Amino acid sequence: MKNVAVLGATGLVGEEVIKILEQRNFPVKELFLFASGRSEGQTRFFKDNEIEISNDLDPLIKKANIVFGCLDADLSREIIPQFKGKGVVIDNSNAYRMDPEVPLIVPEVNPEKARDHKGIIANPNCSTIQMVVALYPLHKARKIKRIFVATYQSVSGYGRDAITELKYETECMAMQQMVDKYEGSVFAYPIANNVIPQIGSFDELGYTTEEMKMVNETRKIFDDETIQVTAICVRIPVMIGHSEAVSVDFEQPITPDEAKQMLKDAPGIKLFETDDKYPMPLFSVNRDLVFIGRIRKDLVFENGLAMWIVADNIRKGAALNAVQIGELLV
Ligand SMILES: NC(=O)c1ccc[n+]([C@@H]2O[C@H](COP(=O)([O-])OP(=O)(O)OC[C@H]3O[C@@H](n4cnc5c(N)ncnc54)[C@H](OP(=O)(O)O)[C@@H]3O)[C@@H](O)[C@H]2O)c1
Repeated sequence: MKNVAVLGATGLVGEEVIKILEQRNFPVKELFLFASGRSEGQTRFFKDNEIEISNDLDPLIKKANIVFGCLDADLSREIIPQFKGKGVVIDNSNAYRMDPEVPLIVPEVNPEKARDHKGIIANPNCSTIQMVVALYPLHKARKIKRIFVATYQSVSGYGRDAITELKYETECMAMQQMVDKYEGSVFAYPIANNVIPQIGSFDELGYTTEEMKMVNETRKIFDDETIQVTAICVRIPVMIGHSEAVSVDFEQPITPDEAKQMLKDAPGIKLFETDDKYPMPLFSVNRDLVFIGRIRKDLVFENGLAMWIVADNIRKGAALNAVQIGELLV
């Protein structure tokens, strides 16, 4: 049994971690919940026990064996080093993912690397996780050469404030007035009735930070710097569930039927085998699996396949993947 702490326990990911620890019967001896001073005194339930949210890190640093980091990257950089030499931190933020000392783990793909940690294990970006879970069985068999991915990402990927924002804008009847007078809050533009082709900030080539996470994290998880990845990441007015249109080219030929055989019983995957049945974000909510459909021959890549991949970004894209990493440690 472990003493477990959740940093950011009142956020979308933190609350889901608490739920999943209970659902999967994680061996928790004592649970510590940490959030900002704004939430101090609030409570959350875990296995019928009401646990108070605290803004005091000291007891967690002294007692926690496993820490789930569900804070933003800046706070993670400030807080996580305080656990050095104490509990192992499984961090959901972007802070340590590309640090060569920190394993970046998706349990269906590279679980063995989790043991190489030096106190921190990083959870990949939500869009990367669902893509690599889906592609790994094919990569093992035919080796991926290059990937083109376009994402359709729900607002919850941004955090709780974005859910509030989409609800508010959706309820706002004077939509045109809102467009004219929009001053921006969570996103730079209205998200209701809209599609925003920017997640994160732009680099000198015109790619966003979210897009480059997919490029760099995919190579690190597959441990293959030769894989070429290009991505466009787009925010859409869906509450929960990220979707991805992926075209992938392999070193060796592969047919859609062969790919379906390889994916049918692969871990963490639910395959939709016929063209008229396909995954959608609405039906991925609260589900643990990565859903794959519309597998077909890609018309551009020589050994290419095209497919559609959907998952709950808060569960497999964050909290569930983190708890699965925790399970590897216990
Ligand atoms: N949402 C996703 O789909 C997703 C997927 C993959 C990775 N992630 C990553 O997971 C992390 C958490 O995301 P989220 O969506 O859960 O965000 P969120 O809903 O905005 O939650 C943020 C959490 O951070 C806490 N916090 C904020 N300021 C704090 C402070 N000064 N001191 C202590 N705690 C503070 C908040 O506590 P209060 O409630 O007290 O403010 C809340 O618990 C982020 O790094 C995000 O990039 C998210």
